Amino acid sequence: MDSLDLVSPDLFRYKRKNFLVRDKLRPKDLDDLQHVEIRPTDIFLITYPKSGTVWMQQILVKIMEAAQPDWVEDATNRVRVPWLEERTADHPFRERPDPRIFGSHLPPDMLPKGVTDKRVKVVYVWRNPKDVLVSLYHFAQSWVMLDSPKSFGDFFQQFLDGNAYMGSWFDHVREYHAAQDQLDILWVQYESMLKDLRGEVVKVCAFLGKNLTDEAIDHVVEMSTFKNMKADPKANYKDLIETNRYKKKTMRKGVAGDWKNFFTVAQNEHFDKVFEERMSDLPLTCVWEIKQ
Ligand code: A3P
Repeated sequence: MDSLDLVSPDLFRYKRKNFLVRDKLRPKDLDDLQHVEIRPTDIFLITYPKSGTVWMQQILVKIMEAAQPDWVEDATNRVRVPWLEERTADHPFRERPDPRIFGSHLPPDMLPKGVTDKRVKVVYVWRNPKDVLVSLYHFAQSWVMLDSPKSFGDFFQQFLDGNAYMGSWFDHVREYHAAQDQLDILWVQYESMLKDLRGEVVKVCAFLGKNLTDEAIDHVVEMSTFKNMKADPKANYKDLIETNRYKKKTMRKGVAGDWKNFFTVAQNEHFDKVFEERMSDLPLTCVWEIKQ
């Protein structure tokens, strides 16, 4: 049995990131991932948790279906865009059509070497961290792999201390920003998708070199709205609720600014101070709220 550096009963730390004790993945498996065979056609969807992964999964799946009819498979998005680093999920290296799309929360230095060596396309979705915090707080109450937070205040501090699932949001975004010259990376802001989903889908298509008709793009957009995904069992991880791995729906609210319903004035001031200290040198502008 590996001896794990426990951050909490449900999370162990490895290379400054926090992984699931209840998953089968262990430090050696994480190291082995650096050497898995990567194809130049592979696509990586990378996020800090709760930043819009499931949303971009749907967009990528729908783009690929429109661009490449032989890519069609009667399976959920979870199976079609499998997780690179979760052993209890669907096997990422099973036989499947190119381009293979992988999901991952790993930082750049833990990705397979082939991602940089072969200039694999990386779609990095990021979201304002106050909403990420609130979304992750709810998710921790839903996912059996995580322990329910004791209170919002407790979780707030855990998040700021980098002790939540996958470690610090600040580090994750900073590390991808620092690595962007080594990667073929497209940054997609969650809030930009909320404001102009079609515009962002067009950018993703251009990045992937997929030339879709206007009608096909309209279809991708239509299939990727919150309302449609909520009703689409292939997109919304409903099977994980049916198999008791999630206790709540993953499509929770899908807005920008929900943190205002959870943060106290003092918490918000504290968050802003930490944010300023950790992020002010980066040319990234968070969108904290979009009025409905
Ligand atoms: P909320 O919990 O704030 O509602 P991830 O897929 O990375 O785990 O992120 C989950 C978050 O993305 C959830 O946020 C979820 O509601 C939101 N989301 C998923 N699909 C969406 C869509 N089509 N439109 C807007 N938000 C979406």
